[in-house]
Formats: sequence, C-alpha cells, structure tokens
Amino acid sequence: MTFDDVVVIPGFSETLPDEVDTTATFAGDIELAVPLVSAAMDKVTEGRMAIAMARYGGIGVIHRNMSIADQASEVQKVKRSQSGMITDPVTLPPTALLHEAEALMNRFKFSGVPITDDEGHLVGILTNRDIRFCEGTDFDRPVTDFMTSDRLVTAAVGTSLDEAKLLLQEHRIEKLPLVDGVGCLAGLITVKDIQKRLDFPNASRDGKGRLRCAAAIGVGADVEERVDALVSMGVDAVSIDTAHGHSANVIKTIERVKGSWPELAVTAGNVVTEDGVEALAKAGADAVKVGVGAGSICTTRVVSGAGMPQLSAIYFASKRAKEMGIPIIGDGGITFSGDIVKAITAGAETVMLGSLLAGVEESPGEMELFEGRRYKSYRGMGSIGAMTGDSQDRYATGQSSSSKSAVGAASQKLVPEGIEGRVPFSGPLGDVAYQLVGGLRSGMGYAGAATLAQLRSAKMMRVTTAGRQESHPHDVTITKEAPNYQRT
Ligand code: XMP
Repeated sequence: MTFDDVVVIPGFSETLPDEVDTTATFAGDIELAVPLVSAAMDKVTEGRMAIAMARYGGIGVIHRNMSIADQASEVQKVKRSQSGMITDPVTLPPTALLHEAEALMNRFKFSGVPITDDEGHLVGILTNRDIRFCEGTDFDRPVTDFMTSDRLVTAAVGTSLDEAKLLLQEHRIEKLPLVDGVGCLAGLITVKDIQKRLDFPNASRDGKGRLRCAAAIGVGADVEERVDALVSMGVDAVSIDTAHGHSANVIKTIERVKGSWPELAVTAGNVVTEDGVEALAKAGADAVKVGVGAGSICTTRVVSGAGMPQLSAIYFASKRAKEMGIPIIGDGGITFSGDIVKAITAGAETVMLGSLLAGVEESPGEMELFEGRRYKSYRGMGSIGAMTGDSQDRYATGQSSSSKSAVGAASQKLVPEGIEGRVPFSGPLGDVAYQLVGGLRSGMGYAGAATLAQLRSAKMMRVTTAGRQESHPHDVTITKEAPNYQRT
C-alpha cells in the first residue's frame, strides 16, 4: 500500500495542533525540531537549501553530483552561515589586497573580516563600511590602508552571548573579536548571528551553534577522500546514497566510513525490507533510508520491475528498525502534508522530500516560464541529465564495466531510472515548510498524538477508490489556489 491507500483514523485528543511536539531524530544524536529532510538531489539541495532547512528546524542532505571540492565548499557555506561564536574566523593577513578581501567577503557573504599577523595577533578589522566608497586602484592597495585598527573593540575569551550583545549595542558595531591574553584572535561574535538566533529559534544547530547539514556520498573508490573533505568542513552526517542499499557495496562502505570516522553519523539506503534494514544497521548505519521507486520522478519500478509501495515499505522496514534501535527516513512519494502524517504513523521518524521542495526559492533548479506561470526544473538522479554528472553509480545502469567493454559502444548508453521535468515555483522554503509542518500538527491533533512517537501508535484504515476520490476536492471547480493544495 501507499499513502493514497490509507487515512489516519481520528482518535480521542487532548492535544491542540500548536501544542504538539514535532521533535525527531535524524541519525545518531542529531535531533531535529521538525522531521523534514531535503533530498540529496541536484535540483533540490545545495548549500542555500541546506541553510534554509536547518534554520527551519530540519536538515538538508547536499547532493554528490559534483566534485569533492565543490561539495565540501557547499558544506562550508552552511557551516559558516551562522554560529553562536565563530571559533575559527576566516582572517586575512595585513599584506592582503583589498580586492582579495572583497572577493572573500562576497564568497562567504560576510560583511567584515579580521586581519591577523603571522602569529595570530589581531591587528585590525575590515568591514563593508570601511570600503563602501572605494573605487578603481583602491582595490590594489593593502587592507591595512582601510581597516579599523585604533580603538578596536574586543572582548576576552569566554564572553557570553548576552555580554557580547551589550558590547555590540554600546559601541554600535556589528562584529566583536574575542582575543586571548596575548592579543591573539580566538573567536568572533556578530550581530547577525545573535539576530539569527532570535529569528530562527528552532534551527538545527551543532555544539558550536552552527547550522547542521548532511552530505551524500557514493560507494566508489573516492569515499575516504570525499568523507575526509566533508568532515574537515564540519559536516554533521554523511548519507550513503544508492538506489539499492541492500547490497554488498553499501554494507562495505558503511563499515569503511564507520571504521575511520566512528563518531560521524551515517545514514544509508535505500532499502524497503526488514532484512535490508537489519543488514545496514548491523554494518553500523545510524539511520536507514527507505524507498525504492516511490519518488515523483522515479521510473525504477517500471524500468526494473522492482520496488515496493512506500507505505508498506516504511511499515515493514520500521518494524525491524525499532528492534535495532535506529530511525527510519521515509524517502520519496510525499505529495501532500497528509502523506507526512501517514509516513510517520506507518513508522518513519523523518521524511525526505524532493518534488515538494524543488520548487522553492532556495533550490538550485533553474526557473522556467511556461504559459505565463513560473516553474523550477526538477529531475531524478537516475535521469539521463543527472547521470551525465556524477550520479551514475547510484543506479549502476544495468551494465558492469566488463560487460560494457565486451559488448562495445552500444552498451555505453545509460539505462535511466528517472525523468526530467519541472514543478511549480512555490516561493520561500519558510512558507512551504510552514504549511507542511502545519499539516503534520493538524494530523497529530486529529490522531490525539502529542509527540511523533504517539503518532506512530495511531491507527490507519484502507480506503477504496471512491474513498480516495472523496478525500480530494470533488464536484466543484477550484477557483482559488490554496497554499497547501495543488495538483500538477
Ligand atoms: P519525491 O517524490 O519527493 O522523491 O520527489 C524524491 C526521492 O526520489 C528518489 N530518486 C529517484 N528514484 N529514480 C528513482 O527511482 C531517480 O531518478 C531518482 N532520483 C531521486 C530519491 O530517493 C529522492 O530522495
């Protein structure tokens, strides 16, 4: 069965939707305020989406259809986007030229950068304000000509965020460098970071106050190199991203990653059976991703004949996951917020979303205009377009390398398991996530569940075709679009 085959049966409730607790575990000790994960797809999650997801309380998995250096740099964008205290601020030496400082500030979207000498002593700070009126050859001069160095406001290591806020206010400055006993730069607290804490109280943060993010990896020879680069940027979890996770390669890869980085949270998948979950959990996975052929852009089930309807897959997989003590990520097939409620009722801890998020402002897909309406491009990672990037090994494409050489050039053709398309543009992620979480809260209210764990004890019933028809608007012409109901 899948989502449209069932409804959650309303039960006695003492809980109001805005009082429910939507906290979920993503993997290991990574807790999320909302159980939403953005898919590791090249039209869904890069740094910008991962930042937006973490601010909203979920997490993004940065796709791997790019070089190791590029993926690590997307993780770095997330990790540098906001902090409690920045413990390793990006700095420049006094010899740096103004154009180098400007390029750095643009790259990270920073409004200022501390200047430190060879030994790490703070000698000044250069901010946007210092260079606002610079032009032409000014940019070839050293930063020391423009930086603020006199009466620099600094604070000692150990200054709390509240104390820092007072100092920032008192001196009307935006950045407060923290220095140790000998004047070396030891950290940085910014007005923006303090403000973001107030603006996004539910944000998913690591121990240093930075936004959390995960990144996808494959099963190839470069796994160690990729994980090493991601870990050096502070990634919170890696997701072993394959179409068929119940396989020797995935098990080996979990063991390789856990062997070298035992503390790093690892999710692996995708599987749909109890045995699949058990195999990955035994190999050391901290969470298992469930779903084969459920995605909106997937053709796996029709091309290969294999897969399992998503609700059943989640149900079976989660039974074993519960015994093994790890969470399930229900991946694919979610088209309405009600499907999130059903996925969690069936046993998922979190859900991974592709098509529902591909249309938001923060996704990397290109904007397209069609018949006067705005869309964003979206495609399967097993589509021809995506597989001409780095995601070919996700699908193995049906040909081994030896059979390729034996049967010659014709076998070099790819066997896609996904399509390329578009989804309606849906505005900022915050608005979409608000509706999705609102629907989840509402479902919890109907089920009488104050927590996601209680929702997993709710009951569902199967519906007939007529029942399903009744569930959707019927017998009227829709004249105004609702923010949470669209049929493409
Ligand atoms: P939704 O339904 O949210 O699904 O768009 C996103 C999930 O679909 C999976 N995925 C694919 N599955 N062929 C497939 O069979 C593909 O080309 C493909 N690309 C992505 C993936 O698990 C994703 O999170």
